[in-house]
Amino acid sequence: MAGFADPDHLIMSVRSAAARAGANIALVKYWGKRDPALNLPAAGSISITLDALQTQTRLEPDPGLAGDLLQVNGQDLPSTRVSQVLDLMRALAGGGPHFRVSSRNNFPTGAGLASSASAFAALVVAADQALGLALSATRLSALARRGSGSAARSLFGGFVEMHPGQAESGDDAVATALAGSEHWPLAVVVAVTDPGPKAVSSTEGMQRTMQTSPYYPAWVASVEQDLSEARAAILGRDFQRLADVAEHSALKMHASALAARPGLLYWNAATLLCMERIRTMRAAGTAVFFTIDAGPQLKAVCLPDDAAAVAAALKAIDGVGQVIVSSLGAGAEVLA
Ligand code: PMV
Repeated sequence: MAGFADPDHLIMSVRSAAARAGANIALVKYWGKRDPALNLPAAGSISITLDALQTQTRLEPDPGLAGDLLQVNGQDLPSTRVSQVLDLMRALAGGGPHFRVSSRNNFPTGAGLASSASAFAALVVAADQALGLALSATRLSALARRGSGSAARSLFGGFVEMHPGQAESGDDAVATALAGSEHWPLAVVVAVTDPGPKAVSSTEGMQRTMQTSPYYPAWVASVEQDLSEARAAILGRDFQRLADVAEHSALKMHASALAARPGLLYWNAATLLCMERIRTMRAAGTAVFFTIDAGPQLKAVCLPDDAAAVAAALKAIDGVGQVIVSSLGAGAEVLA
């Protein structure tokens, strides 16, 4: 009988599948976990999904494999975190084979740009298709979160809010769409100031901040206010208000990390020059603001008409290498 738990039936019905997802950049930052094992955030966050920084992931089931195999841009990598997420999804399907996972980023790898968000979002969408689960985007968001907290947001396009949730299971720690990219077509200019891998991962940086920074409780307590301001600014397309709250959130996140012991200093000299340049441009009338994650790259957010001028200004700064311009993009989706 080909029942639900019949392994042969399960393996035969699993097919190959591919999906794509865009990276995202938080305007109200996520920094700290209420449960590190389940990757549950201590507070909410708000992000924008980008269309220029994409991951495409293909899954090929192979019943002959003893474990999942991972290739990123043609290079073999350890598959531990990927397998953990795939195990959760195989369990939901009642079982299933191991996969050959091949993932490609269309942006330069090793450029210190966050690729885990787009990678885990693409992975769960491809696995959902391969295993025939047909889960909702909300449930896929919770699964992507297990790979990387920020990946939960890349399931959706445009403006996205991540909810910390209250359940111990983490089932309500998911992202939801706030507004589509057409609501307010912003542009993002990424200035790469150091193409090397980041010195301290966000997981380790969060952990150290939580354990040793005297500013961590104040950071967590203040996020709710930032979320409500950012939500209002986005829904009302109020650029000045969004600029104000987004720079505040980024600088406050870094302030809490700087006050950890030993202090986490993610910036380099070029990052500071970029920050100064963006503020000078804004003072001179250009609608632009910056945000910075757990690394030295600066991300400037502006209106599409100003993107070329912002990119040229950042490119001219000593220490800035590549500059990438992106518009807002769609949520993760299955590829034919
Ligand atoms: O998803 P993670 O665990 O890499 O954490 C992301 C943390 C920041 O990028 C610094 C902030 C954010 O909200 O994306």
